[in-house]
Amino acid sequence: MSVDHSSYHVEELISAIDISRRIGTLAREIEGHFKDTDKLVVVGLLRGSFIFIADLVRELKLPVEVDFMEVSSYGDAMESSRNVRIMKDLRGEIENMDVLIVEDIIDTGFTMANVTSLLKSRNPSRLEIATLLDKPSRREVEVTARWVGFEIPDEFVVGYGIDYAQRNRNLPYIGKVVQNGN
Ligand code: IMP
Ligand code: MG
Repeated sequence: MSVDHSSYHVEELISAIDISRRIGTLAREIEGHFKDTDKLVVVGLLRGSFIFIADLVRELKLPVEVDFMEVSSYGDAMESSRNVRIMKDLRGEIENMDVLIVEDIIDTGFTMANVTSLLKSRNPSRLEIATLLDKPSRREVEVTARWVGFEIPDEFVVGYGIDYAQRNRNLPYIGKVVQNGN
């Protein structure tokens, strides 16, 4: 579906400074949890988490490696799909390693449920989830992230890496999409 970019506007929900402060707090908690690790493999889910993971790893005073996975869960419409396809797998092994999955948003939970069951099957020693945003009211399968940046209501959001039809990832804040004329 193509989107007429004049058909909506974006209203700020979470400012850049609030995101930055929250990431500092999350980083301290993650450091505490993994304080004895010899290496933490931080796995970013492309593409929506690219800014979050960049800011988060720079706050982490731990021995960190960074890897990425891309799974497709959304088309260009505001609708969820239950079929999660692996578009790009990790480059590295995770067996017997400490792994932190970094996600932009947990919505229905289907994406994260699929990714965690796949990564668990590779026998990491510890596997945890950090998500910048969580929409618990939308959950259809049970998934719990140990670290949540912000719980948000059922709004379609963009910015800070998160897109609507591939646009608005470059906004420094999180905003909600508002259709014009509604
Ligand atoms: P889930 O499988 O329904 O939990 O969907 C998770 C994925 O859907 C996230 O990683 C996002 O890529 C996308 N998504 C969910 N909610 C939003 C939103 O409000 N804006 C943009 N993308 C979203
Ligand atoms: Mg995503």
